[in-house]
Amino acid sequence: MTAGADRIPGIVGARLLVPLVDGRWVPDANLDHAASAPCLTAVQDEVNRFLPWYSSVHRGSGFTSGVSTRVYERARASVRSFVGAGPDDCVLFTRNTTDSLNLLARALPPGTTVFRFSADHHAALLPWRDAEVRRLGMPAGPDDALRLLDAVLAAAPDGPRLVVITAVSNVTGEVWPVAALAEVAHRHGARVVLDAAQLVPHQPLDMTALGVDWVAFSGHKLYAPFGAGVLVGAPDWLEAAEPYLAGGGASALVAEEAGRETVTWAELPHRHEAGTPNVVGAHALAVACDTLAATGWEAITEHERELADRLRRGLGEIPGVRLLGMWGPDHPRVGVVAFTVVDRTGNPADQELLAAVLAAEHGIGIRHGAFCAHQVVRHLVGDTEGPSRALRASVGLGTTPEHVERLLTALAGLLSEGPRWTYKHAEAGWAPVPDPREEPDFLR
Ligand code: ALA
Repeated sequence: MTAGADRIPGIVGARLLVPLVDGRWVPDANLDHAASAPCLTAVQDEVNRFLPWYSSVHRGSGFTSGVSTRVYERARASVRSFVGAGPDDCVLFTRNTTDSLNLLARALPPGTTVFRFSADHHAALLPWRDAEVRRLGMPAGPDDALRLLDAVLAAAPDGPRLVVITAVSNVTGEVWPVAALAEVAHRHGARVVLDAAQLVPHQPLDMTALGVDWVAFSGHKLYAPFGAGVLVGAPDWLEAAEPYLAGGGASALVAEEAGRETVTWAELPHRHEAGTPNVVGAHALAVACDTLAATGWEAITEHERELADRLRRGLGEIPGVRLLGMWGPDHPRVGVVAFTVVDRTGNPADQELLAAVLAAEHGIGIRHGAFCAHQVVRHLVGDTEGPSRALRASVGLGTTPEHVERLLTALAGLLSEGPRWTYKHAEAGWAPVPDPREEPDFLR
């Protein structure tokens, strides 16, 4: 048990057993929290409590519809408080961080210049393709990031400007100097949007104290996997923009004139929430926010720090493993650790095969590939270790010390002795052959 473990909230599936190819069943070692975190039991319980009352939001006259509308609107208050939003900031429910950042990208005033680093996840990197984009490359360190931003903003002083900042790298777990970058941006009159997807599950966020204008994150990384995310922040650009999605809910009045529809669009927040709102997702996300806030960040960070330290230290001691990082081993980070592996002959190991073996023979789930952050993985892996791919293990509330020890032992054994089963590469990737693992009955 870690020091904070007795204070952290419960996780659905904490005692789940998964099958191995040798016929055994072992506790699931989910070391992929950075991709999708498991559901909090508090979220499951509250969703179950709400479901009998589930009905349409903003659309019905029935009592349950009123309840559902209240639940949905109340969820905004939980999110607002969780991120330290100001009283004028709006809270918009979306599908996830990608959706939130695409929404903001559609709301940029004409002529906006977007400034962003190349280390960002694709959700923060790609939505700005219709805007003028200034690429800031890969900073050599936090000070370099500040210097680069200062220089590009000084060279482009006109028009609306938006700086995109990633709070925590989904590849290296490194924490970016958000407050200092936001200060540089504001000094030059630019605005800031923060991709906080990998920050909020691990550390508190106070967007007012950090000085960011918008923040985006996802429920599925915050222990609320019911399909909701949020965009929170300044209303003016969003208010002035055409709805992100045209449809019911976003429209206040539709008529027909001279053979075509005339539409009066709704005000915020409905303007950018067309279609039936995902009240279950919003409720789940709000419960996760309230539960983490009530737990206290000290317990969460204590629990995760211990696991992350052991993970990094242990991986670093395995011959052939190289930990990936942009800014050195001492830079502050959360428990997201990407690494590459070379085999005994010094050649790059097949990262995807390693991940498949860890799952099939040890019940360990990690991620392999380029993590939807191709540029930073290419930058860190280079091409001397084969295609730009890596492995990534990430910890969270569902992680136990045994999960971490199992990964370290299994990986060391795998690199010295090789797999114990046979594997074949098919279209979907490496798979054990034969694969006797039984799927859960609801899939049969
Ligand atoms: N962005 C998610 C990850 O880093 C999917 O794995």
